[in-house]
Amino acid sequence: MTDASSPRLSCRAALSSFAVLGTGGLAQGAGANTPPSSGPATPLPPQAPDDTRRDEPNASHPSPADQPGGMPHPVMKTEVDMPYRPTIHFTPTTGFMNDPNGLVFDGTQYHLYYQYNPFAPYAGHVHWGHATSPDLLHWTDQPIALDETGAGEAFTGCAVMDSHNASGLFRTPQGGMVALYTRASPHAQAQYLATSYDNGQTFEEYARNPVLDISSNSFRDPQVCFHKPTGRWVMVVAKSRLHQIAFYASIDLVHWVHLSDFGPSGLFGVDYECPNLIEVAVEGGGTRWMLFVSVNPGAPTGGSITQYFVGQFDGTRFIPDNTVIGLTDFAKDAYALQVYSNMPDAEAVSIAWLGNWQYAQELPTQSWRGAMTLPRTMVLRRDFTGGLRLAQTPRGLDTLRDTPLACPAGRLAAGESRQVSLPQGRAVELCMSVTVDERPHGLKLGDKGRTGRFIITFGNEGGEKLTIGFDAFSGQLWLDRSNLAGFAQPFFTGQFSTALAPDDRHFEIRIVLDACTLEIFADGGLAVGTALVFPASPLEFLRLEASGAGATIGSLNLYPLRKTMPRMTAAT
Ligand code: FRU
Repeated sequence: MTDASSPRLSCRAALSSFAVLGTGGLAQGAGANTPPSSGPATPLPPQAPDDTRRDEPNASHPSPADQPGGMPHPVMKTEVDMPYRPTIHFTPTTGFMNDPNGLVFDGTQYHLYYQYNPFAPYAGHVHWGHATSPDLLHWTDQPIALDETGAGEAFTGCAVMDSHNASGLFRTPQGGMVALYTRASPHAQAQYLATSYDNGQTFEEYARNPVLDISSNSFRDPQVCFHKPTGRWVMVVAKSRLHQIAFYASIDLVHWVHLSDFGPSGLFGVDYECPNLIEVAVEGGGTRWMLFVSVNPGAPTGGSITQYFVGQFDGTRFIPDNTVIGLTDFAKDAYALQVYSNMPDAEAVSIAWLGNWQYAQELPTQSWRGAMTLPRTMVLRRDFTGGLRLAQTPRGLDTLRDTPLACPAGRLAAGESRQVSLPQGRAVELCMSVTVDERPHGLKLGDKGRTGRFIITFGNEGGEKLTIGFDAFSGQLWLDRSNLAGFAQPFFTGQFSTALAPDDRHFEIRIVLDACTLEIFADGGLAVGTALVFPASPLEFLRLEASGAGATIGSLNLYPLRKTMPRMTAAT
C-alpha cells in the first residue's frame, strides 16, 4: 500500500514504534494509519515497501500481500482477537506467520525463527521473525532477524551452530550461528547464507550469495544437518514442482556438491516443501533416519500436510525401508514441520506451523494470524504391525501443570455422562485412559451404540461443541470441530479420524486445548491430531460420556496450564 501522507519507516523502526501502542485497544477504523493533523505524532504501524513487482514468488499458495496494492487492510488491533489468542502456543504479536525456521539450540537458548509478514495479517513480504526461549515453552520476542531485500523475500530455511568455524566466516575458532535460507523473487529461488556474530540476534548476509543456485524459481527451503560418519554438512532442499528432494554436501557450509535426488515419492500434490532429515531413536534400541516432506496442496485431508519416510541415509542418498508413507497428523493443521538442530543427546524435537494454506489467510482474527504447535519429542516405535511409526508427544508440558481440577475417574454406565466446568481463558490438558466394556448382548446390528463409544465433549450452553471420540468396535478415534460457530469456509472441514490398535477396547489420550488450538496425542503419540478451533463463545464445560456400552475411566486428570506467552489473552 502506498500512502503519500505517511512517511515510510524502515521495518525495524516501524515495528518498535508500533509496539508502544500496546495490545489492549479496541478495533481501529480505516483511518488508523493516517497521522492526526495536529497534536503529538502518533506512531505508525509498519508499512510495506513500495510494490514494484508484478508477480509473486513461485509457491503453491497465494500471497496477497505480494501483489501490487495488496495490503487493503493492514494490522488492526481488536479485542475480538483475544479469546482466540493461545496462552502457551507461540503466535506473532501482529501480522502473519507461517513456517517455523532456523530451529536451533545455541547451548543456552532455543531459537524459533519464523516466516513472517509484519505488515498485514496475510502472507507476503516474508521476513524472518524471531523469538528465544530457555525451555521451548516460554518465548521472548526478538527483533526481526532477516528482512525482505531487493534479492527477494526471506523464505524458509534453517540455522546451525558452526561451532568449529568450518565456514571460515567467523573471527574466532568458536565460530557462531549460520542461517541457510531461500531468497525468493518471482523469477528465482536460490539458497542464501547469513552469519550471526551475536548468537542469532542479528545476521549479516554473506557477500557472495547465493551459495546454491540452479536457475530455478521452484527450489527452496534448505535444511542442514551435520553427518558425523562422513564429516560433512548435508543439505536437503525441495525442487518443489519436480516433487523431488535434492541432497547436497559441504565441508564449509558455503560450497555445496550435489549428492542425489529423492522422489517423487509418497503423496504427489502440487509442491514439495520444507524437507527435513534427521536420525531418530527407535524405542528399544538403535536409530533410523527420517525424511520429512511437506506437501501443499495435496493432503488426503485437504491442503497442507507433512509426510515422512523411515529409512537409511548413507551420507549420499536416502533409502527408504519400504514404500510406506507416514503422515504426521490425522487432522489438517500441522504443516512445514521442522526439527531442532544441535540438540543435546541428539534428542529429536520438532515444531510445525499450526495451520493450513487452504484457509490460513481467512481465519477470524484481525491483528495476527498463525500459531506454532507445541514442541514435540519424536521417537520411532514399532506398532501392532511391527512397522516403525513416528510417535510425537508434547515436550515439557508437565512443567506447566497447575493443580488438577476435581474430576473423578471410575465407572460410567452405558448412556451415563459426567460434566465439569472448564477454567475460563486458560489452556487445559486432559490426560485419560479408558476401557470400553465388551459389547453388550442382545443389541441388533446397526443399533446406535452397538459398538460402544466414549465421547469427550468441550462445549458451551449455546450448544457449540468440540468432540473427540473413540469407537471401541472399530478401534478408531474421531475429532469433530464442525459444531463450532466462529469460522466457516469451504475448506475448513470439520471431521477427522484415525485408526488406533485394532481389537483393543482400551485407549489413552492427552488433549491440549488452548484458545484456537487443539492438539490430541493418542496411544502414546502414535496418533496425533492438530486442529484450529473457533467457537463463537467460550467453551465452558467438559463432558465425558459412555455411549452404547459402559466404560471404565482408569485415570483422569484435567490440568489448567500456566500461561507462558507474553500476549493479551482472554484471561488477562
Ligand atoms: C511452506 C512455504 C515454503 C516457503 C514459505 C514461504 O509453507 O510455502 O515453501 O519457503 O512457505 O513463506
